[in-house]
Amino acid sequence: MSEMKTDGKNRWLISGGCGFIGISLLAYLLEKKQNIQIRVLDNLTVGTKDDLLEVTSFSETDLAAISGSPKGVELVVGDIRDYKTCLKCCDGIDIIVHLAANTGVAPSVENPRLDMESNVVGIFNLIEAARTNKVGRFVFASSGAAVGEVVPPIHEEKTPRPVSPYGASKLAGEAYCSAYSRTFGIKTVSLRFGNVYGPRSKHKSSVVAKFIKQALAGKTLEIYGDGSQTRDYIYIDDLIQAIILSTQTAVGGEVFQIATYKETTVNEITHKIKALIESDTGKTVNIIYGKPRLGDVRRNYSDISKAKQILGFVPKHDLTAGLKNTLEYFMRIER
Ligand SMILES: NC(=O)c1ccc[n+]([C@@H]2O[C@H](COP(=O)([O-])OP(=O)(O)OC[C@H]3O[C@@H](n4cnc5c(N)ncnc54)[C@H](O)[C@@H]3O)[C@@H](O)[C@H]2O)c1
Repeated sequence: MSEMKTDGKNRWLISGGCGFIGISLLAYLLEKKQNIQIRVLDNLTVGTKDDLLEVTSFSETDLAAISGSPKGVELVVGDIRDYKTCLKCCDGIDIIVHLAANTGVAPSVENPRLDMESNVVGIFNLIEAARTNKVGRFVFASSGAAVGEVVPPIHEEKTPRPVSPYGASKLAGEAYCSAYSRTFGIKTVSLRFGNVYGPRSKHKSSVVAKFIKQALAGKTLEIYGDGSQTRDYIYIDDLIQAIILSTQTAVGGEVFQIATYKETTVNEITHKIKALIESDTGKTVNIIYGKPRLGDVRRNYSDISKAKQILGFVPKHDLTAGLKNTLEYFMRIER
């Protein structure tokens, strides 16, 4: 990946920083950026302190002890549903990357209220705390799910029609980012991620991580529906590049599709995973078909022209190579 520009803005708050994308972002920032100060806010419902330790040493800080910028890498164990926590965590910060969320369609169908509280009240608390603390930049992890069932490819001009509560809550987040940019001048960016996969995804239950874990454990892979549903799979390093670019570009209130512009069926990706695992481990991988899942859209891939034009975003990783790296990661942590 390219070197980071130094813009003097070195004090970052990463909400959800112990999760898959959070620790990957931290690893990148710590490798590329000098004199960086990072505060991580995470309630540890998914990511753990050990996950964070895999990429950096850190100090754990109580809310009461926060005063001004983070010192090195700080972890605050706290919840974005609590406004006072958000207010304290934004103290002395230049850039917020807001990743903490109830992630995924299935949990939002099971518990729509929890999804709303984490993803709607949560972003409101954090962006309001950003305004109060005069934080200039706010990057929000949105999702293709905010757009929902539209004729693909998804792009920023399509009218959103969320299918799942998760999509609805992400769309609400985009709305606050737009409003806080236009009314209060915060440089907000909503990045609609495709399906992210790659190393460090051990907690994820999205298709790539789940199927690799199950296949390595000798379990049968169950495809929901007939497997002809499509997604746009983006490798984690490409996604991190998009986040970094969005913090360096002078835009506010904008939404960007961050994916690859490639449509892959669940059948295709499952058979790629099966072939890789069978050739690397000699194990046989069995696949069965089950019922379709509520809230899932049929086809989903993204036109990324706007991100390319305005952010200079170009994904570089091909699916087979990305899957190979991901499989190697899972085989490494299994040993
Ligand atoms: N991974 C993907 O494919 C994908 C796709 C589209 C959008 N996104 C979005 O990107 C963001 C990061 O995703 P991820 O894959 O790293 O997820 P993740 O679940 O690995 O990480 C999220 C982190 O947020 C923390 N968290 C959850 N609720 C919280 C709360 N109320 N307060 C504080 N911390 C809380 C969790 O403990 C976890 O460590 C999420 O907003 C997700 O919706 C991810």
